[in-house]
Amino acid sequence: MSSLLEIINLRAHFPTKDGLVKAVDSVNLGMNSGERLGLIGETGCGKTVLGMSLIRLLLPSTRIEGKIIYKGRDLLKLDEEEMRKLRGKEIAMILQNPTTSLNPVLKVGDQIAEAVRLHQGLSKKEAKARAVEMLEAVKIPEAGRRANHYPHQLSGGMKERVMIAMGLACDPHFIIADEPTKGLDPATKSQIVALMKSATARKSMLMITHDLSVAGEICDRIAVMYAGELLEVASSESILKDPLHPYTVGFINSMPSRGLRPIRGFSPSLINPPQGCRFHPRCDKATEACRHSHPEMIKVKPGHQVRCLLWN
Ligand SMILES: Nc1ncnc2c1ncn2[C@@H]1O[C@H](COP(=O)(O)OP(=O)(O)O)[C@@H](O)[C@H]1O
Ligand SMILES: [Mg+2]
Repeated sequence: MSSLLEIINLRAHFPTKDGLVKAVDSVNLGMNSGERLGLIGETGCGKTVLGMSLIRLLLPSTRIEGKIIYKGRDLLKLDEEEMRKLRGKEIAMILQNPTTSLNPVLKVGDQIAEAVRLHQGLSKKEAKARAVEMLEAVKIPEAGRRANHYPHQLSGGMKERVMIAMGLACDPHFIIADEPTKGLDPATKSQIVALMKSATARKSMLMITHDLSVAGEICDRIAVMYAGELLEVASSESILKDPLHPYTVGFINSMPSRGLRPIRGFSPSLINPPQGCRFHPRCDKATEACRHSHPEMIKVKPGHQVRCLLWN
């Protein structure tokens, strides 16, 4: 497998009146072509910001540092024009929350058509036909009729399908999908999981989710994020069967299928994260050293890395 993406020491910090929000802090992560990687973690840990920095959709005031080497080029060095050419066509993002991401005053078919026309130079009519084709591809019944509907006329599951159709419309190689199953009922969720799985079979995908069961079902590998940092990266199988970080263990135990036992305490502030290991205030295994010494990411087994002093 060839390397698709190498994220090196990536930081994305937001200056605010209360201080610098370190939403992404020194993230290192690689992906191979054709790989599907799950990015998991509690709400507010920096998943969306990490995804958005890859496609450079963050506000200009955001302080971004590091390297994002995509197919040999550093995306952070491209000018806006070069970046625009990649967006949608080479790298596409399926944004979190269809209700706010879809334009409420445009028919969904027209929104997809607009996305295709921008990149593929199709006529209006061709683009509309392609939009209907895409709605069919994401298994929206009566796609021709639905294309003329406005977002509010569609159910949550249908809107998510429209978002996926929009993301796939220009046939990108790399897809960043942000919480595509959030807020869906169990039956709709499993349909969307099946759709994501088949639609991305020959693509590369970074799948952002707080739902570990979804990541486990779709992804080859999983990266666990906590307070702006990655804490553990391994194959989905290893993460689920042999998690090494106490946070990952807690996260798994908080899944509905594993007993729904939440991790005690709250996610820390990203302005002043705890000294030492960022998870130590919530960790039952924390020792004195964990309060002072910030652990490095270390390789414990082939393909399995963890940031925890217990494994040093
Ligand atoms: N534009 C912004 N300005 C300031 N803080 C932000 C901004 N965008 C996101 N954040 C903060 O960055 C942190 C990470 O957010 P996010 O990536 O959306 O989390 P997740 O997707 O894991 O739930 C949160 O604390 C959020 O409040
Ligand atoms: Mg998010």
